[in-house]
Amino acid sequence: MSIEPVARLLEPGRGPWDPEASDILVCRGVRDETHDVRTFLFESEQPARFHYEPGQFLTLELEIDGRTVNRCYTISSAPTRPHLISITVKRIPGGVVSPWLHQNVRAGSRIRAVGPLGDFTSFRHHASKYLFLSGGSGITPLMSMARTYHDLAEARDIVFVHAARSPADIIYRHEQAMMSHTNPHFRAVAVCEADSPGEVWGGFRGRLSLSMLQLIAPDFLEREVFTCGPAPFMAAVRAMLAQAGYDMARYHEESFDFGTLMAEEAAEAAAPAVPGEQVFKVEFTKSRRVIECGPDTNVLDAARKAGMRLPSSCTKGLCGTCKSRKLAGEVEMTHQGGIRQREIDQGMVLICCAKPRSDLVIER
Ligand code: FES
Repeated sequence: MSIEPVARLLEPGRGPWDPEASDILVCRGVRDETHDVRTFLFESEQPARFHYEPGQFLTLELEIDGRTVNRCYTISSAPTRPHLISITVKRIPGGVVSPWLHQNVRAGSRIRAVGPLGDFTSFRHHASKYLFLSGGSGITPLMSMARTYHDLAEARDIVFVHAARSPADIIYRHEQAMMSHTNPHFRAVAVCEADSPGEVWGGFRGRLSLSMLQLIAPDFLEREVFTCGPAPFMAAVRAMLAQAGYDMARYHEESFDFGTLMAEEAAEAAAPAVPGEQVFKVEFTKSRRVIECGPDTNVLDAARKAGMRLPSSCTKGLCGTCKSRKLAGEVEMTHQGGIRQREIDQGMVLICCAKPRSDLVIER
């Protein structure tokens, strides 16, 4: 008798997913979370289970309009349900990747992915009480953590505060309500800036503030805090906690906010060159630019200093977003898992953590 596809996923003896051996993920389904947020659920092409720490991310390698684009997304599923892995993506109008995912990825779609990677996880910071603070689609890694503790019936006291534009923008609203209903250790609170056309918001209104936090979680100074969201949201949270005298050694944050990161890093990269320093030429074939880069400078930093805008996210060799083909030359590269050995063997580099050892030609 043939095995039904669903039963196949549950077959015993599936080993851990190894993207070095097979990096293809096959979409099994797509779920609408809100009017502009969707969850994409994937299985591995080869029989496998997904092992990761909640809060980690995947880097997707997508072919969009004839270009390879690497983009990292935090995993929204929980490792307690290892048969599928999911990402939850907000469609950013005018963006490159998120509209493409919303338009093109359907059940049966195949994509490449690397990971799971990242150290933003409560599993590395054990505490009896957590405060999760999310803004917009920054909810995903925190939801992975919350789902994990919920599935494991862990008696961790979790207060989960989510900031959304309006009630229609609250991601996982019903699932969080269900978790709050059934789990006495879990409490979800949303803060909305405005009403939706179809709903007048009766909860906390405005931007998350210290006075709101004191009402929602009066014991927040005792909690391990994890924050994810746009950079301005996280900056506001940091300022708020510092003002309250929170021990920032117990504060953890994550963001893959491209626009902000690029702006921040461009400013950082504007450090002056050291006079007399040896420089190498780096040619970017697609942009038709040639820049100079010192031996102690990462190629990405030098490119930004020269005014180029190249895709990047983590800037520390972790996410794979800046992966580029090196057509000529030698680099010294210290990465943190964002590239596979076989890709290095094929001439790929992560330009955020590659320093030139000769003149270079990069396909970008
Ligand atoms: S930007 Fe993340 S690996 Fe280079």
